[in-house]
Amino acid sequence: MPVFGLGTWRMGESGRLRQAEVDALRLGLDLGVRLIDTAEMYGSGEAERIVADALEGRRDEVFLVSKVLPHNASRAGTLAAAEKSLKRLRTDCLDLYLLHWEGPHPVEETLQAFVRLREQGKIRHYGLSNFDTATLQDAHAAPGGEDIAVDQVLYNLERRAIEWDLLPWCQERQIAIMAYSPLEQGRMRRRRALEEVARRHGATPTQVALAWTLRLPGVVTIPKATRPEHVREDVAATELVLEEDDLAALDRAFPPPVEAAPFETL
Ligand SMILES: NC(=O)c1ccc[n+]([C@@H]2O[C@H](COP(=O)([O-])OP(=O)(O)OC[C@H]3O[C@@H](n4cnc5c(N)ncnc54)[C@H](OP(=O)(O)O)[C@@H]3O)[C@@H](O)[C@H]2O)c1
Repeated sequence: MPVFGLGTWRMGESGRLRQAEVDALRLGLDLGVRLIDTAEMYGSGEAERIVADALEGRRDEVFLVSKVLPHNASRAGTLAAAEKSLKRLRTDCLDLYLLHWEGPHPVEETLQAFVRLREQGKIRHYGLSNFDTATLQDAHAAPGGEDIAVDQVLYNLERRAIEWDLLPWCQERQIAIMAYSPLEQGRMRRRRALEEVARRHGATPTQVALAWTLRLPGVVTIPKATRPEHVREDVAATELVLEEDDLAALDRAFPPPVEAAPFETL
């Protein structure tokens, strides 16, 4: 799985921005982005259609991720939701299909549907999102759970709680963490350390924040950007390698957890 992708939350919500959103994803592809994250929830399906437009003639270039809404995630509901996502995305196979968060249906049912979809060749891999350590461990112990490939969770410099136990638990089992909202939705505080590390590398604070999420093995980052200058800046962050001094400075400004902390979601 590529370690850098583009997100699509909030895409498809405004007709005025639609073309800019398609163009942003296409620009990302042109710059070498090889993963796109979407969900049936985003824009009530419209984000998936935007992704399909951006991927016209280029589906093979991308590792494509979508998600089923929890209230659809019964066994039959997941199978039906996947069909609808495939249709909107104008593809016959998703590279990764996730349960968006834990909902009313037992996760065992969702996993059964994921296994069936994989047998049918409609998805290649499956995983979960917004599962904390305990709920992920339960799911992992259920039939089909041993093949959970990903937990997509909130992770950025300001939201480091997963480092306490979720991240190491996943790393031990080769379950990738997909860091969502890696830019804290554009609200990352401008700490001096972030500015200084950026200056040392001739980079921007945003690029440092993204490179920081990629410092560990098994972590994938998926910023969302519509403005072309943001897409360019974010993609260029994949070239930035932070050194020990940088990481130490960032740890002082954005301390890692020293005890178990409540699991955070957006
Ligand atoms: N599984 C889940 O529950 C879940 C939850 C949240 C997010 N996600 C996924 O993760 C993706 C990313 O998270 P997110 O969209 O919440 O937030 P994010 O990526 O942390 O931040 C997106 C915001 O940052 C701005 N931005 C991007 N690059 C920038 C740059 N170089 N300089 C300044 N601002 C920049 C964007 O502006 P413009 O758009 O105007 O360029 C947008 O307003 C989502 O799109 C979605 O695919 C999943």
